Amino acid sequence: MKVIVTGGTGYIGSHTIVDLIQHGFDVVCIDNLSRSSTYALAGIEKITGKTIPFYRIDLCDANATHDVLSAHQDAVGIIHFAALKSVPESVAAPLLYYKNNLESLVNILESIEKLGIPNFVFSSSCSVYGNADVLPVTENTPIKNAESPYAHTKQIGEDIIRNFSKRYPAQASILLRYFNPIGAHPSAHIGEIPIDKPNNLVPYITQTAIGKLEQLCVYGNDYNTRDGSCIRDYIHVCDIAHAHTLALQYLVNKRNDSNCEVFNLGSGIGVSVKEAIDAFEKVSLQKLNYVIGERRAGDVAAVYADNTNATTQLGWQCQYSLDDAMLSAWNWEKKMQELQL
Ligand code: WQD
Repeated sequence: MKVIVTGGTGYIGSHTIVDLIQHGFDVVCIDNLSRSSTYALAGIEKITGKTIPFYRIDLCDANATHDVLSAHQDAVGIIHFAALKSVPESVAAPLLYYKNNLESLVNILESIEKLGIPNFVFSSSCSVYGNADVLPVTENTPIKNAESPYAHTKQIGEDIIRNFSKRYPAQASILLRYFNPIGAHPSAHIGEIPIDKPNNLVPYITQTAIGKLEQLCVYGNDYNTRDGSCIRDYIHVCDIAHAHTLALQYLVNKRNDSNCEVFNLGSGIGVSVKEAIDAFEKVSLQKLNYVIGERRAGDVAAVYADNTNATTQLGWQCQYSLDDAMLSAWNWEKKMQELQL
């Protein structure tokens, strides 16, 4: 069975393509390479032995999008990762984010409906919850104001898909809300290649440890948490990837209860920044150079998932621990240094 993956040369997209291939899918990859490179395709080939069809197109170009999807209208589904995802960048350039993330989504949905491609899996985010009052967060936790234009594009994207699903019952969609994806494929052939300075904690940790960055700043230790630092739900990128394969199989096998379902993808375990640093130091045998600094605007004290729906409905079980993720992130950082990526 064929599946089209947009944003497939990106971090989660490339890991998902590996998992799809390893579970018997033929994959077609679309990406505009604005935030990634074809290096990921070489890594996918090293791991799977497969060279996959790749189309470098901008999904904001409706004609180019329709041409490619028409050429693969026999696909059983589309997994849509392609989007800009930097929170600070979205604050600096909100219109870029609204235009890019939403126009591309509408173009894809228009083609899906015209071509009759039956299944759609959407890359959403825990950031749609905003500053949740109750923990752990379930899929029914009330959606609050988004903390950034990026998160708002995910909220609007979900609403677009919900209304699309009401209008076109022949199409079935799943919205996957990622918590904090971290780590890299155990082979170290693929991983996250940050553009410029990283925004997220784990690449910051590994770049500090390898000497690319001088020091890690822990953004606040005066939160109302067990050790004062923020708590998040860190989830290995390979566990996130496999959830996409399970979600597509769930739709292909028509196990879905409705034609638009939502799933949290988190480990269900809250981990503080200090605990994440301790885990890194333990597995890497590196002492991390960090200081405690001021809080970062927009950070919530704690957020972690209730992943019951994904485990019961999709049959998803996290295979990797925080230590596995930290070690794979460190091995990938060393590989990027070796390859001068
Ligand atoms: C994690 C924790 C920081 C860097 C982001 C996006 C969200 C989603 C997941 C896409 C926080 C602390 C970080 C540093 C630090 N992405 N930190 N020093 O903010 O939870 O979520 O990634 O969907 O949309 O917002 O992740 O990795 O930036 O921060 O102390 O140098 O690490 O304060 O508590 P975040 P993060």
